[in-house]
Amino acid sequence: MQRPVIRITCKMIPALGNTSVRMRDPQRVEETLRCMQKAGLNTLQVISDFDMTLTRFAHNGKRCPTSHNILEVSKMISPECKEKLKDLLDKYYPIEIDSSKSIEEKLPLMVEWWTRAHDLMMQQKIRKDQLTLAVQESDSMLREGYQEFFDCLNQHSVPLLIFSAGLGDVLEEVVRQAGVFHPNVKVISNFMDFDETGVMTAFKGELIHIYNKREGALLNTGHFEELRSRPNVLLLGDSLGDLTMADGVQEVEKVLKIGFLNDKVDERLPSYLNSYDIVLLEDETMEVPNAILDFLV
Ligand code: TMP
Ligand code: MG
Repeated sequence: MQRPVIRITCKMIPALGNTSVRMRDPQRVEETLRCMQKAGLNTLQVISDFDMTLTRFAHNGKRCPTSHNILEVSKMISPECKEKLKDLLDKYYPIEIDSSKSIEEKLPLMVEWWTRAHDLMMQQKIRKDQLTLAVQESDSMLREGYQEFFDCLNQHSVPLLIFSAGLGDVLEEVVRQAGVFHPNVKVISNFMDFDETGVMTAFKGELIHIYNKREGALLNTGHFEELRSRPNVLLLGDSLGDLTMADGVQEVEKVLKIGFLNDKVDERLPSYLNSYDIVLLEDETMEVPNAILDFLV
């Protein structure tokens, strides 16, 4: 299907004129960015989803793995369990991206997916010391331009919260191996609990799934309390569930939401345009977030 071209040319940030960029209200984006620039970097925090937001969706026509997938394809998981996890993915992923279903309809099914997948993983005697190798051997890739993104935020002491319904231990290893786990990075995600021999026994705390990031944000008030002096937020996500990641921010002033729309682009574009300020269509790079940071610094 031919997509209507409703792009704009933006003198302020030329990358906003890229073919991948769509905006419901470009003028509002410009105004928000001008306010954020005026307020200065010391009032900014960045909140980003991980899977398919900081990582690539595809590379050379092949899907890239999520943090769950990295573990699934690793040697730590038995062939029978791999098959079961694959069946779950085949059943539930189409529901995740089905634009004909409401979030209310999807929510119980997503909880079911996460619960069943995590229950299977808990039976696998996953070893903490094998996670490094699992990530090394995986096809996981951060988006092109990730280094500039992480380095710029660190250089300017802008806090980056990675807020993920994926696997915290795995995603931290991806970020570490990419050499960008800087001191300004904090992760809220599903972390594993290991026994004294280093074997996984359970997941810690409340389950974070794709549609309860708001609750996760409100439970982690300590983190957001520390960042009270940073009321401006750049939010990056790839799912409509990511839109509530900034709900824990205290006394919020401006939030600019950037959404990566990776899959089923044409049918999902209207809902993404309605909820994200900037929508990036099948864009595997950090070019636009980096251009925005360049403008803000
Ligand atoms: P995110 O919050 O970092 O994007 O992580 C959520 C993604 O994890 C979501 O897009 C679906 C994916 N996922 C899997 O790939 N396999 C699984 O078993 C589960 C439960 C989720
Ligand atoms: Mg995601």
